Amino acid sequence: MTKTAGAESERPGPDPALFDKIVNLCKRRGIVFGSAEIYGGFRSAYDYGPIGAQLLRNVKDAWWRSMVQMRSDVVGLDASILGPPQVWEASGHLKNFTDPLVDCTVCKTRHRQDQLDDPDLCPNCGSRGTFTEARAFNLMFRTQAGPVEDAGAEVYLRPETAQGMFVNFKNILETSRKRPPFGIAQVGKSFRNEITPGNFVFRTREFEQMELEFFVPPVEAPQWYEYWLAERLRWYADLGIPTHQLRLRAHDADELSHYSSGTSDVEFLFPWGWGELEGIANRGDYDLRQHAEHSGQKLEYFDQASGERYVPHVIEPAAGATRALMAFLLAAFRTEVVNDELRTVLGLHPRLAPYKVAVLPLSRKEPLPGLAGDVLAMCQPHWMCDYDETQAIGRRYRRQDEIGTPLCVTVDFESVDDRCVTVRDRDTMAQDRVPIDALVEHLTGRLDL
Ligand code: GAP
Repeated sequence: MTKTAGAESERPGPDPALFDKIVNLCKRRGIVFGSAEIYGGFRSAYDYGPIGAQLLRNVKDAWWRSMVQMRSDVVGLDASILGPPQVWEASGHLKNFTDPLVDCTVCKTRHRQDQLDDPDLCPNCGSRGTFTEARAFNLMFRTQAGPVEDAGAEVYLRPETAQGMFVNFKNILETSRKRPPFGIAQVGKSFRNEITPGNFVFRTREFEQMELEFFVPPVEAPQWYEYWLAERLRWYADLGIPTHQLRLRAHDADELSHYSSGTSDVEFLFPWGWGELEGIANRGDYDLRQHAEHSGQKLEYFDQASGERYVPHVIEPAAGATRALMAFLLAAFRTEVVNDELRTVLGLHPRLAPYKVAVLPLSRKEPLPGLAGDVLAMCQPHWMCDYDETQAIGRRYRRQDEIGTPLCVTVDFESVDDRCVTVRDRDTMAQDRVPIDALVEHLTGRLDL
């Protein structure tokens, strides 16, 4: 079954050129850098620069706002990244979290067998029939804790944040006074030793996830699964991704993870075609039963009103923060010609925009920077603001458009006398004169955060 969130005929195809434009913009404007570039780079890891760090934070905050802050049936968690082997034994990751790996015996490159267009053809050197037998390659990073390298010191970097919610289920049930249906949400880093990282931050070995484990009475699982499919699709659309670039795709039975009895992906139309943004899985009671069995603890819910005791089923919307950031950038990017000049705009939703407001004195001559500094100080307690006094004002507007700043506030020589500033809109480029005394209220109304 493939459900779509828009009419098929309206959909433009993917735009391969857009990928390079975004990668260039990210580097040029300090959004994303290759990791350890001064040493020649470190493939599959990335550093988020001043603009990117703020954008990533805003993506995660928008998720937390929608999944935790705006709900009374979800609580948050921040669990450890390092975990003992028992957790991964119980979760099934030690045995099942593998990809089929093949080596080309001619060019010595490694490939994921399940991602090859032709299972006998090496995409690197073009040799046919030169692959080794596929072997199961476990994606977890293993290391040791403490100074002694014996078997007892073995630990793993988590490959998903989800297990933190399952191992803390009892703690949270006892301390939060929640009862099913309720959820535990977490945002944080996960690590996978991917065989084929690539497509910029789409698939990396270190990435950030935003996951919810929603615990429900078993009979309610199907309806909650449908509920979360619709909710999660809506989240991306509400934050500005056009619906024709989004769709839901149900997994075939042979695609399902070891824990899942049903999964659908929210997919985005990336420049190379449809790709997963988020998986929404019906994990049943797999995880709680596994951890109960391995830990010897009771992981169940006792309903005092009905006298019923049961192991809740789990619906899991699991999103990637870094992957979502890439989708938001791709969807927001546009260029247009204004007065014979090319204008690049990141039409980001104001909630995601790294800076909400930029304060720009028209000239570097006093008293303008002094007054602009006062305006900046008024705005900073409310929003993340940029300040720029270099170059011509038109150039400065373009620089803000390119990083998605919704509103620019310009302080000019008249401002000194009339105590008004010009507010310029990123999308319409319209300019309004606003009294400084009313500025915070005016911007609050315009930003609609
Ligand atoms: N707890 C379930 C789980 O982890 P997943 O589909 O493997 O499910 C959830 O991961 C999301 O995490 C994916 O939809 C994707 O957005 C993100 N993700 C997974 N692997 C990633 C990687 N190597 N690089 C970047 N993001 C990744």
